[in-house]
Amino acid sequence: MTRPLSVAVAGLGTVGAGVLTLLRDNADIVTARAGRPIAVTAVSARDRTRDRGVALSGLHWYDDPVALATDPRVDVVVELIGGSEGPARALVQAALAAGKPVVSANKALLAVHGAELADLAERHEVTLAFEAAVAGGIPAIKALREGLSANRISRVAGILTGTCNYILTVMREHGREFADVLADAQKLGYAEADPAFDIDGIDAAHKLAILAALAFGRPVAFDDVYVEGIRNVSALDIAFADELGYRIKLLGIARQTEAGIEARVHPCMIPMAAPIALVDGVFNAVVAEADFAGRVMLQGRGAGAGPTASAVVADLIDIARGRATPVWGAASGALSDVPSLPMSSHVGAYYLRLMVVDRPGVIADVTAVLRDHGISLESMLQRGRSPGEAVPIVMVTHDTNEAAMRVALSLIAELDTVLEAPAMIRIEAG
Ligand SMILES: NC(=O)c1ccc[n+]([C@@H]2O[C@H](COP(=O)([O-])OP(=O)(O)OC[C@H]3O[C@@H](n4cnc5c(N)ncnc54)[C@H](OP(=O)(O)O)[C@@H]3O)[C@@H](O)[C@H]2O)c1
Repeated sequence: MTRPLSVAVAGLGTVGAGVLTLLRDNADIVTARAGRPIAVTAVSARDRTRDRGVALSGLHWYDDPVALATDPRVDVVVELIGGSEGPARALVQAALAAGKPVVSANKALLAVHGAELADLAERHEVTLAFEAAVAGGIPAIKALREGLSANRISRVAGILTGTCNYILTVMREHGREFADVLADAQKLGYAEADPAFDIDGIDAAHKLAILAALAFGRPVAFDDVYVEGIRNVSALDIAFADELGYRIKLLGIARQTEAGIEARVHPCMIPMAAPIALVDGVFNAVVAEADFAGRVMLQGRGAGAGPTASAVVADLIDIARGRATPVWGAASGALSDVPSLPMSSHVGAYYLRLMVVDRPGVIADVTAVLRDHGISLESMLQRGRSPGEAVPIVMVTHDTNEAAMRVALSLIAELDTVLEAPAMIRIEAG
């Protein structure tokens, strides 16, 4: 048999330990599919004494992960440290520059420095693989970059954070508020101690930037992604969504129009019957609309040791087999230069909820502002009457331009009878 592929793993946390476990437990099928054994020979992490639940004896230990890049015994470097800067970036740069293929699960690194790293990989004619960086165990990268490579893709959308999807699911099922559910999710280990990256949508935006680059064959552009998280989604809006026939999900959506590419992450109301609306709890989903293949949807586990290790090892098997694809699906010079569109040019339907004083003329004042900005209503809902008290009014608009909607909302917020900042959630087809 051919000699084993010698792998260095930097980072032995959730994913790193998962990779070692998978390579041990599934060694037989991995060897068969790779055509040779895949053997971890060197590792790096910060704390050498920590029990990681996997055997490390006989492996070369490096305190400095960047040194793995120049170990002559190592064929492939796996970066599982995380973060767009620091040791993760330095290691990936050093390994590619040394002519070693790299596998990484690091969405922040790929989203922020993916263009520069692709150049480096191309110059040194080595692979940079990152299946685990988006949607964990779902082979979303392979599906877009290889499975659908013969298609023009017009839209890619997904539930890209299991943490947010879990929080929104529990809020709906139990009628609970965001902060309360977040605290529980942290206790259960579904949300990080510092959950900002997840709940403010940054993590999903990293993944969307990667999906958009692959779907539309253009350089990755994280800074152009519009981002809004789920902090402001209330139990009341989830209940109204239910009444109107919608589910609220945090979606990442990238769409190619004639004018350019829009890429956005924000809470959406999607029709209850849309397949993606049924993806609940910690599950992720990715939907692509392709000109010849039609609509393709993948769903599964987006995080965790097992699913993420599955994606990392699939990349290692490709490398062992010599299967290689340019980082962004086409060579850097062949990528498109279609411009990104600002969020202000988005056109779609909107859900609005206002808390107003229940007195005559209030609705007329609100609808006058909407009319003056060319916004027409599809439906309006006001339940119960409590003269002089605060009541919610819910409105659903026809397709409207985001810029006009923002101006109208700021004027509505200034009306005396409007008691708090209006809630606005964009409506999507799913
Ligand atoms: N967790 C998931 O479900 C998941 C899913 C998809 C993608 N990812 C991505 O996978 C990567 C790893 O995530 P994770 O959850 O496994 O993280 P983690 O549990 O925090 O593990 C990070 C590892 O990196 C090591 N490390 C940190 N700084 C280091 C340094 N300067 N030198 C050497 N080692 C260092 C840590 O060492 P010590 O253990 O000694 O502290 C730890 O072993 C991230 O890019 C993440 O975004 C994770």
